[in-house]
Amino acid sequence: MKNIELILNNIRDLEKSAIDDLKALSQDINSLESWRINYLGRNGKLSSLMKILATIPNEDKKIIGPQINQLKVDLNQLFSNHKDSIDINKSSIDESYDISLPGMKIEVGNYHPTTLIIREICNAFASMGFEILEGNEIETEKYNFDLLNIPSDHPARDQWDTIWLNTINAEDKYLLRTHTSPMQARIMEQKTPPIRVIVPGKCYRYEATDATHEWEFHQIEGLAIDKNISFSELKGTLFEMARKIFGSDQKVRFRCDFFPFVEPGVDMSILWDGKWIEILGAGMVHPKVLTGVGYDPGKYSGFAFGIGPERVSMLKNKIKDIRNFHLNDLRFLSQFVK
Ligand code: FA5
Repeated sequence: MKNIELILNNIRDLEKSAIDDLKALSQDINSLESWRINYLGRNGKLSSLMKILATIPNEDKKIIGPQINQLKVDLNQLFSNHKDSIDINKSSIDESYDISLPGMKIEVGNYHPTTLIIREICNAFASMGFEILEGNEIETEKYNFDLLNIPSDHPARDQWDTIWLNTINAEDKYLLRTHTSPMQARIMEQKTPPIRVIVPGKCYRYEATDATHEWEFHQIEGLAIDKNISFSELKGTLFEMARKIFGSDQKVRFRCDFFPFVEPGVDMSILWDGKWIEILGAGMVHPKVLTGVGYDPGKYSGFAFGIGPERVSMLKNKIKDIRNFHLNDLRFLSQFVK
């Protein structure tokens, strides 16, 4: 027999034995894997057959080569068909799987209580025509202090109150905003009156934490600028917010307070469990702030306020310690399902 016929016989023998062995396999993936290694593996029978190609003349290669390649394709196809049949049979005969049993309950997450109270407060203002905007947490000294009429010797600018950022070659000094009020100037620069916006967001202060103070907390800034805005509109708006959040018979109290960027300035407290509790600072936007952003204080006036939403949530939900908001304790967080 010629050499080439011998090789063709070997190819047919290999094909036959591969098919016979595959038929004899049980329906399990391990024996199929042994079959694959034996026939298709790197040191398997097909690979040995291919090595013969290097030893035969070129004209024989043209005949033998395609035959071996075809065998390789066929064996791979047989392998994947058999594998599919194992998978299908396995799922159809696996009696340990009872499809009539109830499924496993997937725990659905909740919104964080801070998110819930921020949305509630924002919705209260949105229903009064306020637009909701967000601002940057990294601020410049100019917007956080200068444009808000906070003088350079004010204690809030101290390194003990403010988290300053190390910025190299920057024209401005950068910091983590200590309040959301810098957005007052940014918004006035970008818009023309009438303006009615609220800005929820995070603030940072370099201060020791206790039951009512966090170093990272939220505020919701409010700003309304138009012609002829008066203090009574400030009172009416905040009173309406308190009624929407705390109930229609909620009592509120305004007292004088000082913030360099408003004149007059107030704080607002609500009567809660028989005590007056302060929840926000507010006031009429200071003429210096208006001129700082190019507005004419003779033409425009407005009011601004800053609310602490965690403090509002503490009152509403009887939370004793503000630090709970950041502890990530599910026993606390899962109470605020909505
Ligand atoms: C301010 O930050 C002013 N920017 C508010 C303002 C805006 C006044 C516009 C006038 C006009 P104050 O430092 O009081 O003010 O903070 C406002 C509210 O933020 C507080 O009433 C409180 O609810 C909340 N807050 C302040 N500091 C903390 C803190 N460390 N942890 C949690 N909440 C805080």
